[in-house]
Amino acid sequence: MKGLILSGGKGTRLRPLTYTSAKQLVPVANKPVLFYGIEAIAAAGIREIGIVVGDTQTEIRAAAGDGSRWGVRIQYIEQAAPLGLAHAVKISEGFLGRDPFVMYLGDNLLNKGITHFVEEFERERPAAQILLARVPDPQMFGVAQLSDGKVIRLVEKPKEPIGDLALVGVYMFGPEVFESVNRIRPSFRNELEITDAIQDLIDRGLTVRPHIVEGWWKDTGKLEDMLEANRLILDTYERRIEGTVDVESRIEGKVVVEPGAVVERSVIRGPAIIGRGARIVHAYVGPFTSIMNDVEIQDSEIEHSIVLEGSSVRNLANRVTDSLIGKNVRIYRMPVKPVAYRFMLGDNSEVGIRW
Ligand code: TTP
Repeated sequence: MKGLILSGGKGTRLRPLTYTSAKQLVPVANKPVLFYGIEAIAAAGIREIGIVVGDTQTEIRAAAGDGSRWGVRIQYIEQAAPLGLAHAVKISEGFLGRDPFVMYLGDNLLNKGITHFVEEFERERPAAQILLARVPDPQMFGVAQLSDGKVIRLVEKPKEPIGDLALVGVYMFGPEVFESVNRIRPSFRNELEITDAIQDLIDRGLTVRPHIVEGWWKDTGKLEDMLEANRLILDTYERRIEGTVDVESRIEGKVVVEPGAVVERSVIRGPAIIGRGARIVHAYVGPFTSIMNDVEIQDSEIEHSIVLEGSSVRNLANRVTDSLIGKNVRIYRMPVKPVAYRFMLGDNSEVGIRW
């Protein structure tokens, strides 16, 4: 059994962050999303992992390395262009060989892991097994129709209701899938779609088994989902204070303060995490906030947000909320007239200001 993690892609929904960084490396509760996937695969007993990479490969290779820290071996598979999930499978045939494999989308999070899912596949050994979740808005997803405990049809973003079981970003395949990824043609968006490849398996009379997800699942491909994943993960953390907190500060609830972080004259209300080397001075950090390493929050209030390495937020009159702030960003109040907003923002940035 092998693992295949997809960490290429365009990441258009997380621009401008994805102009400079891989979305799979955005930290959720101060840990890159990708690492949760590697851990889930390693926990299922899989030792050989291939990671499909694109433009952001340098950063991904530097972050995940050879996998030894998780007790696995990682190989990298270069995808010249993001031509679809089934295309990623196609170019990985050399790595996968005839072994069955679990395919995991590198921006997905599952709180209960994939161990049961993998065990069930090994026991039943169908041509494919897909993970499904009940969703309130199936028209936004690939949806599976079931009969007699098997998948009989897949429809991408169905206009007519055919149920509420959406495909989640984890799949299992036997080598039968290679014939399918080689047979299908690109879709209207010019991608080789994994749903078409699975439908092709069904059409060839092979068994595709469904497995309903246990616990929650999140695709972190856009801002709201990233913040929600952050909320869900932070909520599972225990309180741990290892940095320096002065007597004038108050730490309430499930808060992690990493070694080397400094909290002065501030209130931190959990669930929240403060990374190594961060400085929180005369500030309020509210629930569901992840502050990465070497961030400075001074004379400001922030909640329900993620702030990446090296950024600073200083002297703001209003609380920052529902925000994802990239690396080395500076947000501050201008002491001089005119009283005006002054921006230096990259393409596709988004700023929301209270009227
Ligand atoms: P998506 O989130 O579906 O696609 P995307 O990364 O292009 O993002 P957006 O829709 O915002 O433009 O991809 C799911 C995962 O699979 C993600 O981790 C990227 C990865 N992927 C590849 O590795 N190769 C590909 O060809 C595609 C389409 C995605």
